[in-house]
Amino acid sequence: MTGSSRSFGVKAMSEGPTKKATHEDEFDLCSLDDLKSKGALRFEFNDPIHGRHEIGVFWDGETAYAIENYCPHEFGLLSYGPVEPGVVVCPLHAAVFDLKTGECLDKYTYDTVAYETAVREERVWVKVPGEERFIRA
Ligand code: FES
Repeated sequence: MTGSSRSFGVKAMSEGPTKKATHEDEFDLCSLDDLKSKGALRFEFNDPIHGRHEIGVFWDGETAYAIENYCPHEFGLLSYGPVEPGVVVCPLHAAVFDLKTGECLDKYTYDTVAYETAVREERVWVKVPGEERFIRA
């Protein structure tokens, strides 16, 4: 299937820096060591049109990736799913998502949104155009 999906929800977020990046639309989300040790982390963002949603950040042993954290099928939290080289498996019904593109590789459900990710100076940066990081008061 094609297309993208936004999902919404409010869940406990990973602790980490909250500053907005100096690079346009990029956010410094976590240390590479933290991501490597946990395998996946989740961060809440606010889209001015669609509202709050989560982005999952993943480490597959070689590369950092970021995709929408809620599965388009029935909102399984992808950051709770097993990560294999280049893919994450939804923990609810096992849909397989390409971490680079967000494509649902087994066509079990819709594709999800992938975000451009970079590692600089041992920090993981994610580009989320036009959005703000949502931080609980
Ligand atoms: S919720 Fe992800 S495959 Fe069903």
